[in-house]
Amino acid sequence: MDLTGQFALPRGITGALVGALMARRHGGQIGGCVADLAPRAGEHLLEIGFGPGTGLVTLAASAAGLRLAGVDPSPLMVTTAARQVRRLRALVAPVELRQATAEALPWPDGTFDGVCATNSVQLWQPLDASLAEVRRVLRPGGRLALSVLEEAVLPDGGSAGPHYDAVLLPALAAAGFTEARSEWRPTRRSRALHVHARRANVEPTPTAASG
Ligand SMILES: C[S@@+](CC[C@H](N)C(=O)[O-])C[C@H]1O[C@@H](n2cnc3c(N)ncnc32)[C@H](O)[C@@H]1O
Repeated sequence: MDLTGQFALPRGITGALVGALMARRHGGQIGGCVADLAPRAGEHLLEIGFGPGTGLVTLAASAAGLRLAGVDPSPLMVTTAARQVRRLRALVAPVELRQATAEALPWPDGTFDGVCATNSVQLWQPLDASLAEVRRVLRPGGRLALSVLEEAVLPDGGSAGPHYDAVLLPALAAAGFTEARSEWRPTRRSRALHVHARRANVEPTPTAASG
C-alpha cells in the first residue's frame, strides 16, 4: 500500500482513512497557521491543499463574515471537505472549492487578502512557479502563511527535514514576498515549520535563470 502517495494525493478507501488521520493529527498545527494568517472580518481567503477540510473549518471560526475558497487536486478531498464546510454557519458566502493545484490557481490577479497552506507546499511543483502563482492571486500587501511538518514527504520520496526553512525562505524572496518570518514549533509527535510573509508591492527582480 503506497501510504506516501496517499498523503500527496488521497484517493479511494485508503485515501478516506488517510484524510481522517490528517484531520485527527494536524488540528493544532493548522490552528497555528491560521493564527499566523491573522484573518480579519470580511476578508477573502484561500487555502491551498485543504485535504479533509480542517483548515477551512478553522478559518471559518477565526473572524466574522469571511469569504473562503480552497483548492486541492484530489477529487476525494474536494468531496470530503465540501461535506465539512456545508455545516458552517459563521460564513456569509458559501465556500468556493476547486479541484486544482498551486501551479495554476483558477482566480484572477489580486483576488485574495490572504492565503494559507498546511503540509502541501512541499508538494508544489515547481515550487518557484507555484509561489509566483500564489503571489499573483494575492492583492499587494496580502499575507501568506505556510506550515510543514518536518517529516512531510516530498514528491521525490525524501522528507522536508530540519532545514526546510533554507528552501522556503529564499524561494519566497525570489517570488516577490517580503517580511518573511519562520519558526519551528513542537507538535505532539515531532515539529513543524511555520512561515509567514507578505506580497511585496513591487515586482520581483528577474534572476539570470528566469531571464
Ligand atoms: C498531506 S495532505 C495535507 C492536508 C491538510 N492541509 C492537512 O494539513 O491536514 C496534502 C494535500 O495537498 C494536496 N496537494 C497535492 N499536491 C498539491 C499541489 N500541487 N497543489 C495543491 N495541493 C496539493 C493533496 O491532495 C492533499 O490533500
